[in-house]
Amino acid sequence: MKEMKKINEGEAKLVLSEKVFFNPQMELCRDISSLAVEACCENFGKEMHLVDGLCASGARGVRYAKENSCVGRVEFVDVKEDACKLAERNAKLNKLKNYEVHCCHINDFLFHNRGFDWVEIDPFGTPLPYLQSAIASFRKEGMLSITATDTAVLCGAHPKACLKNYGAKPIDNEYCHETGVRILAGAVVRYASSLNFGAEFYLSLSLQHFFKLFVRLRTGAREAVENVKKLGYISHCPKCLNREWRLNPPILKEKCPRCGGKFEHAGPLFLGELWDIRFLREMRRINQQRSYVNKWKIDELLAVMEEESGMPPTYFDLHKVAEKLRKSPPNFESFISKLGEKGFRVSRTHFKRNSVRSNAGIKDVSSAFQ
Ligand SMILES: C[S@@+](CC[C@H](N)C(=O)[O-])C[C@H]1O[C@@H](n2cnc3c(N)ncnc32)[C@H](O)[C@@H]1O
Ligand SMILES: [Zn+2]
Repeated sequence: MKEMKKINEGEAKLVLSEKVFFNPQMELCRDISSLAVEACCENFGKEMHLVDGLCASGARGVRYAKENSCVGRVEFVDVKEDACKLAERNAKLNKLKNYEVHCCHINDFLFHNRGFDWVEIDPFGTPLPYLQSAIASFRKEGMLSITATDTAVLCGAHPKACLKNYGAKPIDNEYCHETGVRILAGAVVRYASSLNFGAEFYLSLSLQHFFKLFVRLRTGAREAVENVKKLGYISHCPKCLNREWRLNPPILKEKCPRCGGKFEHAGPLFLGELWDIRFLREMRRINQQRSYVNKWKIDELLAVMEEESGMPPTYFDLHKVAEKLRKSPPNFESFISKLGEKGFRVSRTHFKRNSVRSNAGIKDVSSAFQ
């Protein structure tokens, strides 16, 4: 096989080939995922059996095993022979002891093998075609790690494709990344529920061109039903920036009660919690002990997620609000303090700069511009 180059990423040495996909920009995503694996170790209380589902060079599986001593065994799966050969080579190069490379369709592998602790689904585009087999491959519980790069679809650039793939209406506005993540999370909840699993979102991330979700799945009809009850809709008024959210089954208002403008709706989507604060804190603690190039970037991201967990499911882009009010955007830090002094909960959001999450509505956010 013609080699392109050798690189180091995290604790791994990787051989790359021009025939096999590898995106160096996803290092940060792989760093975060490796931290998430370690943060899960205690939960399982045993060696983890992990699937690197669409493995390409095997970068993820190799890193997860090398960087986290709790990983017991890795199954590398890719449909392309060149990828399988490269994953085998990288596993050997990094002296992995307990692994196997499977050259087949991921759904075939997952439908015929069960009982994993962590299933990684890192496809080109949407993870939807692999969700059912991934969730069904867990026995009582497991961690699902999914990447989606069809962010343009989920964020409303192609609403028909979103309706076709996810059965949901997206919204193309200043918080479209969050509604996109919530539409994806909603799809996970529906698949999980149909297989009698409840889903808990440990971490949800939107960065560059991708979304990443770490989801804890546990069998149980009650948990599944509770999750489905958290599906609903967000209604947004583009005229005055008012927004409302409603759980299923919704009676959606046509008009914004604040200004009479026409509401735009997004959903069905997941309105529940996108982060688990203890998990984020554990990841931050582990990150302190690592020497990733992205260490401080990761710490900042996790810190912001800690702030935004437990907050309402949309945020206000202060530039957008300023534009509506025909005012100049306020100083970000002073605005946060001002809203806080008025008694509201307020946080930053990792989804967008210069944006705040708050239990204040648009009226109080606007009056804090005075
Ligand atoms: C985005 S790349 C994976 C990148 C890799 N996880 C990383 O971090 O570098 C997607 C990989 O999925 C493989 N693939 C596509 N469809 C597949 C399928 N149905 N089953 C298994 N592998 C598949 C492709 O050959 C490709 O290597
Ligand atoms: Zn309005």
